Amino acid sequence: MTSRSLPDFPWDSLRPARARAAEHPGGVVDLSIGTPVDPTPDVLRTALADAADAPGYPTALGTADLRTAAADWLSRRLGVTVADPLGAVPSVIPTVGSKELVALLPTLLGLQGGTVVIPEVAYPTYEVGAVVAGLSVLRSDTPPADVADPVLVWLNSPGNPHGRVLSPEQLRAWVAWGRERGVPVVADECYVELGWDVAPTSVLHPSVAGPMHDGLLAVHSLSKQSTAAGYRAGLLSGDPALVARVWEARRHLGLLVPGPVQAAMAAALGDDGHVELARSRYGARRDRLRAAVEAWGGRVDHSEAGLYLWVTRDEDCWTTVDRLADLGVVVAPGAFYGPAGERHVRLALTATDERVDAAVARLTA
Ligand SMILES: Cc1ncc(COP(=O)(O)O)c(C=O)c1O
Repeated sequence: MTSRSLPDFPWDSLRPARARAAEHPGGVVDLSIGTPVDPTPDVLRTALADAADAPGYPTALGTADLRTAAADWLSRRLGVTVADPLGAVPSVIPTVGSKELVALLPTLLGLQGGTVVIPEVAYPTYEVGAVVAGLSVLRSDTPPADVADPVLVWLNSPGNPHGRVLSPEQLRAWVAWGRERGVPVVADECYVELGWDVAPTSVLHPSVAGPMHDGLLAVHSLSKQSTAAGYRAGLLSGDPALVARVWEARRHLGLLVPGPVQAAMAAALGDDGHVELARSRYGARRDRLRAAVEAWGGRVDHSEAGLYLWVTRDEDCWTTVDRLADLGVVVAPGAFYGPAGERHVRLALTATDERVDAAVARLTA
């Protein structure tokens, strides 16, 4: 029996840098993983607690309340109008956070053979999902002229790790390319609420998609915008024919978002105040860290949106990782995200103000 080989789990290779950083007398500042640290807002906690009586199974489709709240959020915040969220063929469904959806999408769509196109420097799970489904991977930031049997395109805007935002023109080029070939184009937009220098446009926006969403899907997540990574709360929306294919498979597999989490999601999607608060916290941390990194001699590339600073000192990323570990600061090497990331490191904005202050003091000392 042969087994498919997943890429190495990269985080293990950061262990030496972590150990070195732990020796710093002021303690470690861990900016390596983008896991939120601020309290989950009351709007989610209250709705979760109020829905705690949940003896029956939830559905893969999601409650009507949640689908309606999701469609309203897409319209209010992103200018996207999905087909009737309560129609017989769904235009939006909940996911157990977005990572499982990213990893499973090729499988859930039933793709058999062919190539998945992913960004040049990318969140590793796009590749993992292709490998799990036995598919090939091509890394490209522009629609490729020559690719054998493309079956799926992943876009990620704002992007992890580099915070780059795809312009409406770039999105339109991908949409046209996918539609010409009958290849679904899926945009992971889990940082869409975190635009700093640029307002991100959804792939489902009419200026990109046109009046219909055929061939297009968007992936959203409440992990960062609602400080609720522990809830595992994501959304898939877009072309009802594609959403329905994924929904059917999810029903069979039992990929269900727990009922109380669905209630919390519906409440969160109806409330913009807590998202603004999260934005202002991350924005302030970003300003402080960015200035400190530049004072330290780092150059911040892209990073116009999202939860990270994409930093280079024009040297191998592991050299930069070690320099920062000497200051007690742990960051992710860009090589984790593809060969084109080898001269950058990624700094997450998800640390407490106190830890961000510690990092700033050390970088500017
Ligand atoms: C680009 C991207 N997509 C998806 C995810 C998964 O997020 P979650 O599963 O918390 O929704 C992450 C997490 O950091 C990410 O960076």
